[in-house]
Amino acid sequence: MTGPDILSAKYAADPYPHYRQMLTSFPLYRHPETGFYLVSRHAEVTRVLQKAPFTNEIYTWQLEPVAGGQTIVQMDGEEHAYYRRLMSAPLRGSNFREWIVPEIERMSAGLIEAFRERGWADLRADYTDLLPCDVVSTLLGLPAEDRSTFRRWFININAFMSNFGKDPAVTAAGLAARTEMTEYLRPLVKDRRARPRDDLLSAFCHAEIDGIPLNEEQIQAHCSTLIAANGDGTSATIIYTLKELLLHPEHLQAALHDRSLIDRMHLEATRLNPPVHMLLRFAAQDVDLPGGHIPAGATVACVVAAAQRDPARFHEPDVFNPYRAEIDPVRDFTPGGSIVHFGKGRHYCLGAHIARITVSTAVTQLLDALADLRLAEGAVLDEKGIFTRNLTRLPIAFTPAPPDAGTAVRQRTASAGLA
Ligand code: HEM
Repeated sequence: MTGPDILSAKYAADPYPHYRQMLTSFPLYRHPETGFYLVSRHAEVTRVLQKAPFTNEIYTWQLEPVAGGQTIVQMDGEEHAYYRRLMSAPLRGSNFREWIVPEIERMSAGLIEAFRERGWADLRADYTDLLPCDVVSTLLGLPAEDRSTFRRWFININAFMSNFGKDPAVTAAGLAARTEMTEYLRPLVKDRRARPRDDLLSAFCHAEIDGIPLNEEQIQAHCSTLIAANGDGTSATIIYTLKELLLHPEHLQAALHDRSLIDRMHLEATRLNPPVHMLLRFAAQDVDLPGGHIPAGATVACVVAAAQRDPARFHEPDVFNPYRAEIDPVRDFTPGGSIVHFGKGRHYCLGAHIARITVSTAVTQLLDALADLRLAEGAVLDEKGIFTRNLTRLPIAFTPAPPDAGTAVRQRTASAGLA
């Protein structure tokens, strides 16, 4: 007898009953077709993600081929610490909020303007498939007119990372994105080396290791890491936060009155429906866990989505309760929180802060701009993905804004609740 088949159609359609089965009966098992060892309990997932003998070597096949070089998520020791410092300054530095929040407000307001007179929208196609990707290209400092090309790479690189079934078309599209990106970045790198700006691409172009500047391959790998590490995680987070608000009018009303509650809604919505369902690790040595034995050389799949519904960690784990005691809106954006989908330990997500800001700003802008926001009548909420997961559509309805409303979406430079 073995645990759930993660490649079955039944699992893909609704993995949650399978997570319950893992937690109760198969806390550690080997999936025959992929060879993965799956761990699901919160305590074990947390341990595997952050402690030896588990390493991030799996990114050698999961990310490096499309990144065009070694990435920070694969690195260890001093090298990893160096790149973390390099990326931390622009992603978490004190002056970062000052320029990125108005940028996100401007971009989200622009997207909302395109549909607010219509009275309906699909929030995925019209909003969240665009905004997080545009935020990353803005952070990198890429020209705005190239955003649609960048979005295509974004989709193809992320699909490559989830391609456990080894679909050759998905592999080819991912590798093509890498080649196109190499060509695209070459003149921009040259320009930033000569004329640095206040963007991440310039930071990469002027970084040095032991006095030697990064080469083009290393720079591209770091740009691709931002695509892959963010994935469509921010999109799924906005979607699931809004879905829960729309399904629970009392929580929507609370958020309308107090925008600082959006962080709690975000954390609880994604505890239940994480954007990342699995994180992989490589076992560098034989190891015994409470759930069983893992041999050296194994790929371990940490089922984050099951861990976040583990009754040993969360009271009534299947219930949406943004005020639950286990959620802490400060601690849960750090490695010490109960939320696992930002990772744990030394590779903890460097973008958790920017994800938080993006989600809060995106949700706030929608609540401000759309009157009488609700799920569209007859809306079907289908989900897709076993590695990362998102709703395929989120159809909404609202009272259309009058045509002369102009750019009524407010642009706040110091949004409440984001400090
Ligand atoms: C809700 C959205 C996001 C989720 C769920 C997410 C999730 C993660 C996870 C799970 C890891 C650790 C991977 C591992 O240990 O194997 C990670 C690392 C990372 N994330 Fe995110 N991420 C998100 C958004 C972002 C954004 C917006 C950025 C930057 C623009 C970003 C940048 C990074 C970087 C640079 C790393 C590598 C850190 C290291 O290796 O030290 N992430 N992310």
